Amino acid sequence: APLVLRTVAETAAWVESLRRSGRSLALVPTMGYLHEGHLSLMREGRRRADVVAASIFVNPTQFGPNEDLSRYPRDLEGDLAKCASAGAEAVFTPEPAEMYPPGFQTSVTVGEVSQGLCGARRPGHFQGVATVVTKLLCLFKPRVALFGEKDYQQLQVIRALERDLSLGVEIVGMPTVREPDGLAMSSRNAYLSPEERHRALALSRGMAGAQALYQGGTREAAALVDVVRRELAAAGLREDYVELVDATTLKPLSAVTPGLPARMIVAAFAGKTRLIDNQPIGG
Ligand code: PAJ
Repeated sequence: APLVLRTVAETAAWVESLRRSGRSLALVPTMGYLHEGHLSLMREGRRRADVVAASIFVNPTQFGPNEDLSRYPRDLEGDLAKCASAGAEAVFTPEPAEMYPPGFQTSVTVGEVSQGLCGARRPGHFQGVATVVTKLLCLFKPRVALFGEKDYQQLQVIRALERDLSLGVEIVGMPTVREPDGLAMSSRNAYLSPEERHRALALSRGMAGAQALYQGGTREAAALVDVVRRELAAAGLREDYVELVDATTLKPLSAVTPGLPARMIVAAFAGKTRLIDNQPIGG
């Protein structure tokens, strides 16, 4: 079983002993209820550093008032076993009061890249993410930290904060792990009824459709986005947004152009459950 760290102080001591032993560290931040997507990050961490640590913390500051903080799924026992199987040596799982003690008053705000897409629909979300990730990177001082492309805007926000604050951590983005039928793995998939689970396939199917249209020669964003919209509508999913964006700045594109990587990004509701997915287009 992995070493379970519950406080900042014991974590700092563990990190310092690791540093003195000369071993390099990979960090995988998570909110738990782990699946193969999370475990793929830990396994890659093993390849890139001597020791892997994970964090399991359902970060309250990144949830809006009407979001799912109180019902976010949890299974610490199961998660610890999965961490062990994926090669994580230590797991940091603090209480909220340990991360945000009375008097806590600092936050990290990333600019432009955090403003559109999920940033526009979930006010305060990326400030919560950026603050907790900065705190984790400062506490663990890892050589590398691994994140999934599943949360594509989050990955770009974290790249920006690492670079702008000169944290000296290599940020590694890893491909989205999917169920055999194409649904992107997510802890929130546990909320889906069997019927919603089936309808949720419209996200990945829509993006595959957009990619097929691109292969057929279409370059205009409006037409590519429309393919995704029609799949969502046909499945009875409520669109939150569908956008074709520049893959690094996340600014909206009017067309795919040679030499400029583009990404289709989608968010939609299946019942009350908000699902996100994204795919490169072209390239
Ligand atoms: P969480 O949703 O638990 O995700 C933890 C990490 O796993 C993130 O980097 C996420 O992109 C990655 N991940 C999730 N599903 C994936 C999939 N299907 N394939 C590959 N990677 C996947 O993202 C968060 O937690 C939080 O916002 C956090 C960064 C921990 C800050 O609180």
